[in-house]
Amino acid sequence: MIRTTVSASREYEVITGSGLLSESGKIIRSVAPNAIKALIVTETNVAPLYLDKVKAAVQAEGFEVYEYIFEAGEESKNINSIAGMWGVMAKAGFTRTDLVIALGGGVTGDMAGFAAASFLRGIDVVQIPTSLLAMVDAAVGGKTGIDLPEGKNQVGAFWQPSVVIEDTDCLLTLSDEKFTEGMGEVLKYAFIMDLPLYEFLRENASRGIAIREDAWLKEKIVGMCVADKADVVSNDEHDNGRRQTLNFGHTVGHVIERDSGFSKLHGVCVAKGMGIIIDACEGAGTLAAEEAQKMRDLIKAYGLPVDDDITPEAAVSGAMNDKKKRGNTLSIIVVNKIGTSEIRKMSPEEFKSFLEGAKR
Ligand SMILES: NC(=O)c1ccc[n+]([C@@H]2O[C@H](COP(=O)([O-])OP(=O)(O)OC[C@H]3O[C@@H](n4cnc5c(N)ncnc54)[C@H](O)[C@@H]3O)[C@@H](O)[C@H]2O)c1
Ligand SMILES: [Zn+2]
Repeated sequence: MIRTTVSASREYEVITGSGLLSESGKIIRSVAPNAIKALIVTETNVAPLYLDKVKAAVQAEGFEVYEYIFEAGEESKNINSIAGMWGVMAKAGFTRTDLVIALGGGVTGDMAGFAAASFLRGIDVVQIPTSLLAMVDAAVGGKTGIDLPEGKNQVGAFWQPSVVIEDTDCLLTLSDEKFTEGMGEVLKYAFIMDLPLYEFLRENASRGIAIREDAWLKEKIVGMCVADKADVVSNDEHDNGRRQTLNFGHTVGHVIERDSGFSKLHGVCVAKGMGIIIDACEGAGTLAAEEAQKMRDLIKAYGLPVDDDITPEAAVSGAMNDKKKRGNTLSIIVVNKIGTSEIRKMSPEEFKSFLEGAKR
């Protein structure tokens, strides 16, 4: 078991390890000694797998348990689901000392977090992420919210959890595709800030996504990513500086994702986006050819793509429409040495010629 502390506007622990769902009641009681009621938010895929276990663990600690189960998928990430959660809590007479438990992937965590942030102007939330993407990214750092028809994650709040419980056994029921996608974010941490994680992933590259059958390895990898995210969030909770480095591969990745009508998985698009920036850094002569090749090889070893047929023009115009742009400049995250990254401000024209200079 690995315990990582996040020191943001609130200090809390992320506990990562095998078999933690059964311990979840005790862990939650330790951070909510006076709570009486708990709303477990989950969805139709995760509920049949893990709801009973968590519910039993929480009830054993004397909590009065309520449930809100929504239809799995990004389509549910809207205000109707939030209103449903508010309704259950209001009817049951939840008070400021009661809490919400998010059990599921990033969609569940973002929504349950937002419902908790807004109900009675803010009650506690416990995150229990079950997807790899949610464990290494979404559940840590306090970003919560919902989508609008006009765009993803358009409404939300920063709302840090009281504790994050990551049972790595849950990754065994995830589809291969979803596990692979999560590896896109894992590789991102290795490239931008974590040389030991990079070396570790390289040592185990021949196993590919079979690494998830190794409980020790899985705990170690997820724990390293959590420590990275915790480090970044602790230094830049509100995304004004260093937290932006987590966008490595995301500027172009988002454009590819949106152009596919969100039919391509986020982590897959991020891998493509990283590959494109790696090529551009190599072309600009700031990243050594050998390092660039090692990075591409590692991405491929874990079943992810490194390129896409998007043109530099399309990438730039798509990026300019993205909310992440500030003024007329783009903040592009570049890696010129594995394990370190920097934010480079580029005008659209500079970004276009940067992409056009790509080697390969
Ligand atoms: N808050 C943040 O900082 C942050 C960061 C990254 C992504 N996100 C958000 O997270 C969402 C994506 O997260 P996601 O990929 O986890 O999506 P998700 O919650 O839709 O889960 C993906 C799929 O995996 C299934 N699933 C989850 N855990 C499972 C398990 N253990 N076994 C079997 N199936 C399981 C789900 O039912 C779903 O079908 C997006 O909405 C994105 O905006 C938020
Ligand atoms: Zn991402």
